Amino acid sequence: MTAKKRGVFIVLEGGEGSGKSTQTAMLADAVANLGRTPLTTREPGGSPRAEEIRKVILGDESAGLDAHTEALLFAAARADHAHQTILPALGRGDVVISDRYIDSSVAYQGVGRGLGVAQIQAMSDWATQGLVPDLTVVLDIQPEVGLARASDANRLEAEPLDFHRQVRQAFLDIAETDPQRYHVVPADRSPHEVHSDLWTCAAAVVAS
Ligand code: TYD
Repeated sequence: MTAKKRGVFIVLEGGEGSGKSTQTAMLADAVANLGRTPLTTREPGGSPRAEEIRKVILGDESAGLDAHTEALLFAAARADHAHQTILPALGRGDVVISDRYIDSSVAYQGVGRGLGVAQIQAMSDWATQGLVPDLTVVLDIQPEVGLARASDANRLEAEPLDFHRQVRQAFLDIAETDPQRYHVVPADRSPHEVHSDLWTCAAAVVAS
């Protein structure tokens, strides 16, 4: 890692329609109210080059993209995002809030696409040179409910319900491996109720 880490890195994960973007914005406001500087970002994307890769991954021209190519493109976007956006912000002391990160690749590509949890985790760790969030909040929602709420259909979202059930379970399984660093928040509630739970665990990390 090139930049010395001084800031705080928080990630929101979850399936389609779990409200991550709404919660990212609400969390940023709460962080600012504490007197810290928030930086909201997202994956795939979060840096100019990674946003270009996002267009390739999610665009219509990628219909039928091989799963390995898809996983590598997500990892390439993430490498650029980590080095160009996240690490510099942490170096400045900001509170980085990312809508998705490595666990999305583990859940969607490792489990959903069946490429293997260990392989995707190792590739992602290599791509980010081991940059791990201080806190990851999984916004948990039944896929039936989330998919009905999701507005922008993309290639991944169009996968069958069973794919999304596996992705949901994968996020829950990941969260169980490290209860210190992961919190699961039920997301089938009002944005304010979800934010209140989320802030309960995030405030301590931000204030640290
Ligand atoms: P997006 O429109 O940002 O969806 P959402 O609002 O649900 O985050 O599209 C991102 C899609 O890419 C989403 O379906 C999840 C998927 N994805 C992966 O499959 N692997 C990954 O590593 C990441 C970051 C996202």
